[in-house]
Amino acid sequence: MKFFVDTADVDAIAELNDLGMVDGVTTNPSIIAKSGRNILEVTKEICDMVEGPVSAEVVATDADEMISEGRKLVEIADNIAVKVPLTWDGLKACKVLSGEGNMVNVTLCFSANQALLAAKAGATFISPFIGRLDDINLDGLELIEDIRTVYDNYGFETQILAASIRSANHMSECAKIGADVATAPPNVIKAMANHVLTDKGLAAFLEDAKKADIKIV
Ligand code: G3P
Repeated sequence: MKFFVDTADVDAIAELNDLGMVDGVTTNPSIIAKSGRNILEVTKEICDMVEGPVSAEVVATDADEMISEGRKLVEIADNIAVKVPLTWDGLKACKVLSGEGNMVNVTLCFSANQALLAAKAGATFISPFIGRLDDINLDGLELIEDIRTVYDNYGFETQILAASIRSANHMSECAKIGADVATAPPNVIKAMANHVLTDKGLAAFLEDAKKADIKIV
């Protein structure tokens, strides 16, 4: 499973990128607003840092305007994926922008039907939002499973990009289901390293090393 980082925090991206943990980056208008930076500038900086796809989202709602915004966004760098919402206009924009050879990430997906439409409109990525479904007592992971089944039934090449990930558990469950990509905030990716038995075991090893005066350098 590829790891995308769901942030516009360039320091956090750099730290994970140095460890080989960044296969791409996703942003949305809320993430850009949080960065306090100009969308074109910060997106360019991120594109220069990472080799993989960097999703930048349109803010128009009309198909023609989304297409214009998408064409402007892809001028930033070769690794831009234009992010459009899963609306009828968004699907129209997806069809045109993907037909022009651009990567398109269709976002705000909450059903297998929506994912099916995005694949038929030529989406490179479909972004089902796990956490926001869990927030309303629905099962976000079940949606990932359903989309996996639908796409595999018909050989769609659209990549399932599990989004709105809130926990390390979401990451391992997505990997077990076979999501192609998971995008998560940096703290969630770092939390994947944590285990209480690792902490306990390390404390015991260090205690024994101290008692035996073990020194390596
Ligand atoms: O980029 C989309 C997404 O990952 C949003 O996550 O936590 O705002 O639902 P969240």
